[in-house]
Amino acid sequence: MNKKEANVYKKITTHVLQEMKLKGEKIAMLTAYDFSMAGLLDQAGIDVILVGDSASNVMAGHTTTLPITLDQMIYHASSVMRAVKRALVVVDLPFGTYQGNSKEALNTAIAIMKLSGANAVKIEGGSEIIESVDRILSAGIPVMGHLGLMPQSIHKFGTYVVRATEDDEAQKLIEDAHLLEKAGCFSIVLEKIPAKLGGQVTQEIRIPTIGIGAGSDVDGQVLVLHDMLGITQKFSPRFLRRYHNLSEEIQGSVRAYIQDVKTQNFPNEREQY
Ligand code: KIV
Repeated sequence: MNKKEANVYKKITTHVLQEMKLKGEKIAMLTAYDFSMAGLLDQAGIDVILVGDSASNVMAGHTTTLPITLDQMIYHASSVMRAVKRALVVVDLPFGTYQGNSKEALNTAIAIMKLSGANAVKIEGGSEIIESVDRILSAGIPVMGHLGLMPQSIHKFGTYVVRATEDDEAQKLIEDAHLLEKAGCFSIVLEKIPAKLGGQVTQEIRIPTIGIGAGSDVDGQVLVLHDMLGITQKFSPRFLRRYHNLSEEIQGSVRAYIQDVKTQNFPNEREQY
């Protein structure tokens, strides 16, 4: 897609995503957690920016997404919102801020929308959280669902392997996707499930599906920015395509800087007053 085509839509809304599904135009989504990166992604023409709770891993260095707090998510989301003009910005409801009851979930969603200015929220789960989804939606807040591998439930799953390979779990996932659609979600993330199941869900529901390790027959794709840019080094699931090796480039630049400082090659005549 050239620059002109990428900017056909002046502002991406949930309605535009629906239109893209109807037209068969794939949706490109990436995560971002700060002003500088979000601005670069937006200017490059990304459709959706997810302020994911993966910030807990790639920004804060935790091994799971569980520790990140609501205040921290709002901090990341506000930084992203200051940079973004065109993309739709979706923010994860962090672990422990919505599972109590639907009122708690609503309050969390309202805090995110009010304090960050984001466009929508994302919430992990199906039938278990449908009452919360209903309540958030009835406050006029757009909701993106998230099924399949749900990193906030890692201690229940016990492992990050592919989900829904067995019939029972696949059937529940399909039912949950229908439930989320019926409730009024505008889109659903499908994480790490068989490609065939990703395609089946995408065929069966009218709202766009965004896959991460869910094959090619979904309506869009999402990756964690630090993974696709090669900033993270050890995380290498099969679904991840690295578009760059930034860790090497950054370290190369830092080594060159250290060398210049040590050898008094920096600053030179033109770099001082
Ligand atoms: O937090 C996140 O980055 C996510 C994506 C992996 C979909 O939920």
